[in-house]
Amino acid sequence: MKRSRLIQTEGLPDPEAFGPGAVLVYDRRLTRGLRRFAAWSRRFPARYPVQAGEALKAVDAFPEHARKLVKLAGGFSRRESVLVCAGGGSVGDFGGFAASVLRRGIGLVHIPSTWLAAIDSAHGGKTALNVAGAKNQIGTFYPADAVHLVKNLLFSQPPARAPEALSEFIKVALIDGGPWAKRILTSSLRGADLVWTHLKSAIRAKMRVVEVDPEETGGHRQILNFGHTLGHVLEAHHGLPHGSAVAQGQLFALDWSRIKVGLTDDDHAAFRDLLIRHTGQKPGPGALPRIPRRTFLTLLGRDKKSVALTGVTFVFLKGLGRPVRRRVIHEEVAEQAAAHGWI
Ligand SMILES: NC(=O)c1ccc[n+]([C@@H]2O[C@H](COP(=O)([O-])OP(=O)(O)OC[C@H]3O[C@@H](n4cnc5c(N)ncnc54)[C@H](O)[C@@H]3O)[C@@H](O)[C@H]2O)c1
Ligand SMILES: [Zn+2]
Repeated sequence: MKRSRLIQTEGLPDPEAFGPGAVLVYDRRLTRGLRRFAAWSRRFPARYPVQAGEALKAVDAFPEHARKLVKLAGGFSRRESVLVCAGGGSVGDFGGFAASVLRRGIGLVHIPSTWLAAIDSAHGGKTALNVAGAKNQIGTFYPADAVHLVKNLLFSQPPARAPEALSEFIKVALIDGGPWAKRILTSSLRGADLVWTHLKSAIRAKMRVVEVDPEETGGHRQILNFGHTLGHVLEAHHGLPHGSAVAQGQLFALDWSRIKVGLTDDDHAAFRDLLIRHTGQKPGPGALPRIPRRTFLTLLGRDKKSVALTGVTFVFLKGLGRPVRRRVIHEEVAEQAAAHGWI
């Protein structure tokens, strides 16, 4: 898979660097909230403001977007044309898809504006559109030429957003286990400062996994689903935000890993504390009502990691940087979830 150039800077890149055929696709909210962004956006030869969110990714809306983008990019060759996508994951998924199909693939640059996009969705090349409300049913693998990580833009988010993103960030640290992950275990930094300091390391760790299995054919990329088996159920049933759901899913997976793959008590305590400290999640359902068993099993069956109809590939953790994929039957997951009070 093509490697995207990673550029980490304080301020937004010079628009002229993207050439005369650049089209800025951006979350229009950014020009409202950020004066500097508005002035910067006007320096692009062509601009395409969009409303962030799942509706942007609706396949039905795509022909109209395509018509406008083709017009904006008109007059430039395929090689000169580049979409520069500034925004969160929805803008990146939409813009990435558009770049991958316009004239069979034009240039693509991501400038993520949310922590989720900076850590996760801008990397790995997945683009996506939604079909009739079903997420990510259409898409391509199309890595960006470059991803710009811009401090001023990312820190313009409300600080309360950071704990949500920390869930995926810690997930990558736990499954990677490199020196940066060890530093995180004892770091006194919090929230956005912690993410910013180790952002490139976290991205490179994700990319090491993706490069082994770029198109999700070999199974290795499944280790990135650590915490997501229960997480997706909680997201679907209780409507928990993705980060919170995945933090709960990781706490659950850590507990189960002691029995299944011999995660030591010391490691278990250290990883559990790390998740609680940075995501603000308290383990367990708390005040959430129990999920009916049948509903739970149905939701589990819908999980994309499901194997056939009876089992899922569950990601356990044997130690720092030692994820283990194991096939488990749905009933076994339900039993564990019941023991934790989720069912
Ligand atoms: N391609 C992938 O690998 C991948 C991975 C994970 C998620 N995703 C996709 O990413 C999307 C979710 O990501 P997201 O939460 O970044 O989406 P988003 O683009 O919908 O942004 C969420 C909200 O934050 C606002 N926003 C963006 N930047 C801001 C800023 N700097 N300050 C204040 N508000 C800001 C947006 O206007 C929007 O209201 C989903 O569509 C999901 O499917 C894709
Ligand atoms: Zn996730």
